[in-house]
Amino acid sequence: MRDATASEQLTWALGAERVANGRAAADTPARSGAARFPPLPSETYAVIYADPPWDYKGQLQHAGPGSADTGGAARHYPTTTLDDLKRLDVGSIAAPDSLLFMWATNPHLDQAIDLGKAWGFAWATVAFVWDKARVNPGFYTLSQCELCLVFKRGRIPHPRGSRNERQLITARRGPHSAKPEEARRRIERMFPQQAKIELFARRRAPGWEAWGLEMLEEEEEAIA
Ligand SMILES: C[S@@+](CC[C@H](N)C(=O)[O-])C[C@H]1O[C@@H](n2cnc3c(N)ncnc32)[C@H](O)[C@@H]1O
Repeated sequence: MRDATASEQLTWALGAERVANGRAAADTPARSGAARFPPLPSETYAVIYADPPWDYKGQLQHAGPGSADTGGAARHYPTTTLDDLKRLDVGSIAAPDSLLFMWATNPHLDQAIDLGKAWGFAWATVAFVWDKARVNPGFYTLSQCELCLVFKRGRIPHPRGSRNERQLITARRGPHSAKPEEARRRIERMFPQQAKIELFARRRAPGWEAWGLEMLEEEEEAIA
């Protein structure tokens, strides 16, 4: 994500009055219901792959100590409360038989299961465990893994492709918040024929529809 657009994104998503000094106003009352979302497509998809901007109590996400971006406001984006995420009508773009693959940071696991259900899916299992091959500080144990959950609506989409994809992905971390491409490749092999959309995407992957603030910017730039 380009530095210059991060605060613009925040302004767009939260409303200018809720942004102060490059930070979401943490003391803003009634955050719930305030986030804005770009319009969702009118089509339906059998595979929905989401990486929500989980809320860290109103603070912007940033790369943190040890990263190349330390000390700067680079690579940050607006975060969204669970109540706001629930307002996004993901059910409207889900085919009757569809799967929701959703990344969840470890402290947000309970919220992620809540969100998948609120979007009209039934909890299924953990699709992928991403071993980042490097530890981060943690309050309890050193943090090393992130989970991609899978939820189901109706039946598992057919026809199915690969049935022997592994759960564990070992891949070094890339840019802040970027998820390993291997997860996407495994989903593609599992469901090669189904319509697929990535929510909260940063780029448009071949064969996928992409939706999110950064896709909105891309569309606006194309129109301009
Ligand atoms: C966790 S990041 C996604 C990272 C991505 N999966 C990757 O691998 O690079 C969350 C994304 O959600 C976007 N976002 C934040 N608030 C949003 C909103 N209100 N509507 C749509 N997208 C939003 C951010 O701009 C950010 O690109």
